[in-house]
Amino acid sequence: MLNAEKARIAVLVSGGGTNLQALLDAQKSGVIRNGEIVLVVSNNPEAYALTRAKNAGIAALTLTKTDCGGQAGFEAALTRTLKEARVELIILAGFMSILTAQFTAEWAGRIINVHPSLIPSFCGKGYYGLRVHEAALSYGVKVTGATVHFVNEIPDGGQIIAQKAVEIEPGDTPETLQRRVMEQAEWILLPRAAEQVSADIVNNRKGATT
Ligand code: GAR
Repeated sequence: MLNAEKARIAVLVSGGGTNLQALLDAQKSGVIRNGEIVLVVSNNPEAYALTRAKNAGIAALTLTKTDCGGQAGFEAALTRTLKEARVELIILAGFMSILTAQFTAEWAGRIINVHPSLIPSFCGKGYYGLRVHEAALSYGVKVTGATVHFVNEIPDGGQIIAQKAVEIEPGDTPETLQRRVMEQAEWILLPRAAEQVSADIVNNRKGATT
């Protein structure tokens, strides 16, 4: 497939970027065939994800709420950047900031997120990163997992695309559980979902021109 035909993807990150790495690897190995990562945006200048993007030769930049004068300015700058890059699909991969209803409505059906639990458990405002796994362990569930979903105005509330369960093991800490959920679920689910949504975008485009 010619690059011009692929769905143009931006990945939004805040931290280590292991999910970004899974997406980059999936693009290389051909798991993602209908999409092309053209841009990485971080809201944290220290994010290691930025280094991963640079190592892969992908354009990467930082936008912070502080530099943009608050949430509205941040989202306006983000929208401008995404439109300039002709982005069609936004992937939140460890992006630790909640987007407003105005932004999610403008990109309806074009934003997906990976969350490290089986939604509707341990999700919504305040549940992010290690906190999700701390909550799962302190509740005492025996099974957790990951979810990829479309993003709407409700934090972690959009339509579910894919889920995978992961067993909790005796002696798990939030860190060991986080790692297992990433390895067994997130790094597999997110690239597959990215391919599925990219393929839908490409097919819809074809439909629109015939
Ligand atoms: C991942 O576990 C991701 O699911 C989670 O943060 C981690 C980021 O790791 N995201 C959220 O909790 C969002 N609500 P990464 O930077 O190595 O991909």
